[in-house]
Amino acid sequence: MSCLHIKNLKVSFSTPLGLLKAVDGVSLDHVDGETLALVGETGCGKSVIARSVMGILPDNAVLEGEIYYEEQNLLKMSEGELAVIRGKEIGIVFQNPSLALNPVHSIGRQIAEPLIVHDRMKKKEALLRAVKLLEKMRFEEAEKHSRMFPFQFSGGMNQRVLIAASVVADPKLLIADEPTKGLDAALKARIVEELEIVKRFNGTSILLITHDFDLAEKLSDRIAIMYAGEILEISPLKDFFSQQMHPYSQALLKSLPDRGFVPIPGASPSMLNPPEGCKFHPRCPFMREICTRRRPSLVKIGGREVRCVIYT
Ligand SMILES: Nc1ncnc2c1ncn2[C@@H]1O[C@H](COP(=O)(O)OP(=O)(O)OP(=O)(O)O)[C@@H](O)[C@H]1O
Ligand SMILES: [Mg+2]
Repeated sequence: MSCLHIKNLKVSFSTPLGLLKAVDGVSLDHVDGETLALVGETGCGKSVIARSVMGILPDNAVLEGEIYYEEQNLLKMSEGELAVIRGKEIGIVFQNPSLALNPVHSIGRQIAEPLIVHDRMKKKEALLRAVKLLEKMRFEEAEKHSRMFPFQFSGGMNQRVLIAASVVADPKLLIADEPTKGLDAALKARIVEELEIVKRFNGTSILLITHDFDLAEKLSDRIAIMYAGEILEISPLKDFFSQQMHPYSQALLKSLPDRGFVPIPGASPSMLNPPEGCKFHPRCPFMREICTRRRPSLVKIGGREVRCVIYT
């Protein structure tokens, strides 16, 4: 069974310079219990997908397509219905931890919040559950830490707190948007450990949004590569790392410091005036004439999907 189905999602923003296509026909089937990594360079539309699923896009966004969570179309739900799903069924960890925490509430209180709001649990019981969760997440001195405030913690510790808060109500799906961005290696390892605990003990499905291939490799079952608002490849993790199918995936991996450090020629395309045909064609070493005028569709090959004329 699949818990999240995204069908032909298109999100554009009206801007003073024209219409910006942030997400341009994305389809994804997120299977129950799996961790799917969504990887792509900055500005390619990853967070906009997360925000579309949560129903928290700004007013200048125009959205088309369908997003099903357990057979219910989220885009047809009222704000009240969505509020129930958010936090309880689907948890999210945002990109910026310091903005997401409330400075006047203790760490324990912030973690307990969804239990008090959604499950109408008594405050004392919810706080006890928050401490238990911190213990499970291997926080040292969980009880003491639960009485502290966000400003007493480092950014990395607050990120760990946010992950705890996002899973306290035991959501079926967790969307983690850049959960390790800006963290040092030691804290990154703790976040990986924390997400592994969430996967293993709660069976939570995770949509992991990241730039970091190491993180994707450690945690995910499948990897989806995004470029300029489109998905160019979806592959099981092992297959992806043994051979990437799309020329962009190949180039992206080779550009990493520990995998060759070969820069991808050219620049990321403008989202306001993207290239005709395949959006990657101006930078592609295998470009043919047809790539300049026809946008390839995503084709299934075995357990993989790829959007490139080479495979059609
Ligand atoms: N409210 C908005 N108005 C106009 N454009 C927007 C708005 N929000 C996002 N965008 C644009 O949509 C595109 C996709 O943004 P998004 O935040 O999803 O990128 P991302 O892949 O998450 O990047 P990063 O890795 O840097 O977080 C970008 O070009 C961004 O500038
Ligand atoms: Mg983002």
